[in-house]
Amino acid sequence: MTLGTRLVTELEQFKRDGVYKRLNYLESPQAARARMQGRGEIVILSSNNYLGLCNEPEVVAAGHRALDEFGAGTGSVRFICGTFTIHRELETALARFVGCESSLTYVSCWNANEGLGPTLLGEQDIVISDQLNHASIIDSIRLAKAITKCQTAVYRHADMADLEQTLQRARDARLKLIFTDGVFSMEGDIAKLPDIVALARQYGAVVAVDDSHATGVLGKNGRGTAEHYGMLGDVDIITSTLGKALGGAAGGFTAGPAALADYLTQRSRPQLFSNALPPTVAGSALAAVRYVERHPELVRRLHENASYFRGQLTALGFKPLPGETPIIPVIVGETAKAIQMSELLLEQGVFVTGFGYPVVPQGHARVRCQLSAAHTGQDLDFALQAFKRVGTQLRLI
Ligand SMILES: Cc1ncc(COP(=O)(O)O)c(C=O)c1O
Repeated sequence: MTLGTRLVTELEQFKRDGVYKRLNYLESPQAARARMQGRGEIVILSSNNYLGLCNEPEVVAAGHRALDEFGAGTGSVRFICGTFTIHRELETALARFVGCESSLTYVSCWNANEGLGPTLLGEQDIVISDQLNHASIIDSIRLAKAITKCQTAVYRHADMADLEQTLQRARDARLKLIFTDGVFSMEGDIAKLPDIVALARQYGAVVAVDDSHATGVLGKNGRGTAEHYGMLGDVDIITSTLGKALGGAAGGFTAGPAALADYLTQRSRPQLFSNALPPTVAGSALAAVRYVERHPELVRRLHENASYFRGQLTALGFKPLPGETPIIPVIVGETAKAIQMSELLLEQGVFVTGFGYPVVPQGHARVRCQLSAAHTGQDLDFALQAFKRVGTQLRLI
């Protein structure tokens, strides 16, 4: 069998299993409403464009300016061929924004996570991970284990007793790194940061939080999970993305103590062997950080929208998972039902993705709604009407 034939056979099986993903093409910028090829105008309820900055004129203009000033890119790795002053400006702004002393950018948060574990950990160390952590943290840990032979452990999701027992068992490790999402992307719940940090202090561990769904989202000023709990400055290491609330282009960063960015510059492999963020992305992300700092009302609006939508869904008879974030999963049961619901909603002009097994446990398939500050009341009511029609059709309400 040729490689091509094998791939086609497997793709056909994905379709039969109901796990095949079709790409939907947008013909206009990412926004509360966009034009989807073949569908016309749709309301988007499945984007991480939490603050509506993907197409904010100031953010787009800053990207243009950086492109004009610095060109398309560095042409190589930063330490070899030079980096741009806009990278330094962005890194200073990001560190300040998340309450850390230094930060270093990567072309994605995936890269930031993969660049962290294997760089910090060694054979005498252990990394302890929440069971529901994002795939990029899991892969970072797998990579660290393969490269450095560090120990690894997983604690049950948000189970602080299990985390404590794991820390007790790991007493003799040199570095004990607790790695957790700030906001868990499939459930929309928030890590129990006060408890995690308290345990870390008690057992001499270090805490790393991936705040990709919290940066620009949690806390009064959108500064993340630490701000949400009044703990800015108390988290040892924060990784996050520029590809969601902060302009939505791409890119990620790692922030922490003053020496961290310098250390990662010396040793982190995605930094040493891969190009820097393109200037246009650095420029738009920097403008996004400044925009959020000047417009905390966007964060407030995001939460008002989320709370309205959650309340109305419940009033319609749906069972959204309870929570305080703009990620609102509506549990529908079987995978096929979640996919069918998402297709029917798209026919009604609402774009929201269905997730099933193995991304979430069997029987817990869901459509995951994500709210944005950019949604108007009309957008939300339009979507709610579609949910009502589709929910009735599928006998979910
Ligand atoms: C928790 C978390 N970490 C990391 C990432 C990856 O971010 P990026 O797109 O910047 O690689 C995501 C994206 O979905 C995420 O949800």
